[in-house]
Amino acid sequence: MPSIWKLATGLQLLTAMYAAVGAATTTNCCSAHLESAISIENDGKVLGLSANLVTGDQTFGQSVPDFCNVTVTYTHSNWNDTVHITAEDSWAQSLLSGLASNYSTGMTDTGHSLADQESASWAYKPDGELNLDLLEEYAYVALGDLPAVGKQLSNRYYGHGPQYSFWDGCSTGGRQGIQMAQKYPTAYNGIYAGSPAINFPEITM
Ligand SMILES: *[C@@H]1O[C@H](CO)[C@@H](O)[C@H](O)[C@H]1NC(C)=O
Ligand SMILES: *[C@@H]1O[C@H](CO)[C@@H](O)[C@H](O)[C@H]1NC(C)=O
Ligand SMILES: *[C@@H]1O[C@H](CO)[C@@H](O)[C@H](O)[C@H]1NC(C)=O
Repeated sequence: MPSIWKLATGLQLLTAMYAAVGAATTTNCCSAHLESAISIENDGKVLGLSANLVTGDQTFGQSVPDFCNVTVTYTHSNWNDTVHITAEDSWAQSLLSGLASNYSTGMTDTGHSLADQESASWAYKPDGELNLDLLEEYAYVALGDLPAVGKQLSNRYYGHGPQYSFWDGCSTGGRQGIQMAQKYPTAYNGIYAGSPAINFPEITM
């Protein structure tokens, strides 16, 4: 049996950055307005979208501009999955660095709780079989959804998409950067794939 436990613990900060294109406004930072812009491949369906304007004077440990904090929750027919794409959360130190440089930023949990890395339960079906849909979602499917949804949101919010988009990730985020260069070569203008956790059979030994 593959060492899914180690695979799950490999989850690391994953971030995408989209070029800065304007200041946050309350008018556009509205869930109904943003949700109507989103379409997700592979029969994806938005389950919910939350949006709130956050003022940068809150304590984030660094100076950030005001921003629209958007979280998109979605699923796919027949996959029994729930994925969250967010612009801000407790994992988001490097999202905040992006914000501080006036980028729109985003990250995905690829369908798995970032708070529960020790449990591999997500990788199995209730009957104990490997859940290949969710493994593929973790491996690459969700990585295509993130830039697609991020750009749709930017487009809706600012009235035009980003000029340039960049990936910045380390460890599993580095593995994801390499995966995206292979599978989604047009999603980003540049990819920083730090310490990529690749060659899984070796690193999980
Ligand atoms: C951003 O939105 C998420 C999801 O609604 C929420 O959990 C989080 O507290 C929000 N962050 C801020 C700074 O408002
Ligand atoms: C769907 O996933 C949930 C856990 O996320 C699990 O409790 C449930 O049994 C799964 N349903 C099916 C049909 O696999
Ligand atoms: C971000 O944008 C604001 C407003 O236009 C500007 O004052 C600030 O210098 C910019 N910050 C960076 C790091 O470019």
